[in-house]
Amino acid sequence: MMRVLSGIQPTGRFHWGNYFGAIRQYIDLQDGNEAYYFIANLHALTTIRDRGVLWQNTIDAALDLLALGLDPERATLFVQSDVPEVSELTWLLMTGTSLGLLERCHAFKEKKAKGLTADAGLFTYPVLMAADILAYGSHLVPVGEDQVQHIEVCRDLAGSFNHAFGEVFVLPKAKVLESAARVPGTDGEKMSKSYNNTIEIFEDPKSVRKKVMRIVTDSRPMEEPKVPETDHLFQLYSLFAAPAERLAMAALYRAGGFGYGQVKKALADAAEGYFAEARAKRLELAAHPEKVREILGDGAQRARARAQQTLQRAQEACGVKAES
Ligand code: ADP
Ligand code: TRP
Repeated sequence: MMRVLSGIQPTGRFHWGNYFGAIRQYIDLQDGNEAYYFIANLHALTTIRDRGVLWQNTIDAALDLLALGLDPERATLFVQSDVPEVSELTWLLMTGTSLGLLERCHAFKEKKAKGLTADAGLFTYPVLMAADILAYGSHLVPVGEDQVQHIEVCRDLAGSFNHAFGEVFVLPKAKVLESAARVPGTDGEKMSKSYNNTIEIFEDPKSVRKKVMRIVTDSRPMEEPKVPETDHLFQLYSLFAAPAERLAMAALYRAGGFGYGQVKKALADAAEGYFAEARAKRLELAAHPEKVREILGDGAQRARARAQQTLQRAQEACGVKAES
């Protein structure tokens, strides 16, 4: 069975882009695989410097993922920092990591290019990510395009450790999540927290509706026929609509004689219906924080058991622990 692993940073409430671009696919992969998913709070610490915010984001991330269908019976869900073995493994990997390799990594490179000073955490971020992956012997890592470079770094580090000390680590493969699901934001650009154009999955339906109504559209006359596939409003609608509804909407676009307000209303209705069940589940979970704590505790225990084995093998291999 394939071991699948991915981490998601708790840097804010998850939006539609995160759902269709990543979370939904994590949930699909929990069937037929041994799946590990974690909330990457140690990585988020490189950007969030407020204890209350980081803590709340971590809890919210767990609630969101569970409400959306991450099933603790089928997948292991945990918080990154609950597995301290990963941090120890990070050090073992850090020795032998060339500075040049890390200097080429984009998070650091982009910050430096902007003239900002990066800290050692951001600089060594890919090594922690490599340890995350290697600790669980992961075969497959589903990630967005932007993380592929980090998986390459992980393979590099694992390969050179294995070369120096023997076959300890499994070399993982990236599974690049479909770029077709590049969800547009309210301004038509890629939806992203950094662009301030997001619609959060669990924000109040009224507020969702308001944001939808403000989605930027062109000013062509109503009568004019339009191409649905290249219109961001249609693209958003397609994510939520049933196939028959999508076809009907596409026909309406091609025929012309409709207003964008009509499409926006259909989008807001479809999105509200789409997430209704998850919304109810989230409310129920939020009312039982002890249940969520238990799920994360169980997840951490399972994850630790595996990480401990890997760490021990790595420690023995490089000579910081007696061979068992
Ligand atoms: P943001 O850009 O809002 O900061 P992140 O970089 O934290 O989002 O993304 C977390 C995950 O969600 C990544 O796997 C990323 O590829 C995916 N994702 C984010 N925004 C989108 C989008 N607009 N369309 C598709 N996938 C997205
Ligand atoms: N760096 C990833 C991101 O920003 C999150 C992450 C941390 C991760 N550790 C990981 C993803 C291990 C996959 C595997 O999206």
